[in-house]
Amino acid sequence: MLISQTLNDKINEQIGYEFAASIQYTAIASHFDAESLPFLARHFYKQADEEHEHAMKFIKFLIDAGARVEIPAVSKPVALSCGALSVNERERLNYQLSTINFLNEPSNLRDYNSRRRGHPYTERRENHPRNRD
Ligand SMILES: [Fe+2]
Repeated sequence: MLISQTLNDKINEQIGYEFAASIQYTAIASHFDAESLPFLARHFYKQADEEHEHAMKFIKFLIDAGARVEIPAVSKPVALSCGALSVNERERLNYQLSTINFLNEPSNLRDYNSRRRGHPYTERRENHPRNRD
């Protein structure tokens, strides 16, 4: 295996966050779709596809590194309704959307980059102003 067990575990955890975000975006999109708001629905369906793509890139990275792919359980998405979200639902939604940025932590990004130079997802993050050294 070309990566540490710690990094392997963290990337598996991140894969779960990516899939959870994808499912949450799908739930949001379907809500807007049902409310006859196709532009908003399209936007969130696209976001869902993007998060799914991120998960698949991490899976490919692990396979290429000879590491173990262990996809964690994904929690049920917060359902939107015409009424306002409860405090608990709002906190859960906020948590799910905030945990998708594991690689924004500089030490995690450096460890990942040192093993995956040239990967399109990494390149894009490396070029983000927030991630430049
Ligand atoms: Fe993502």
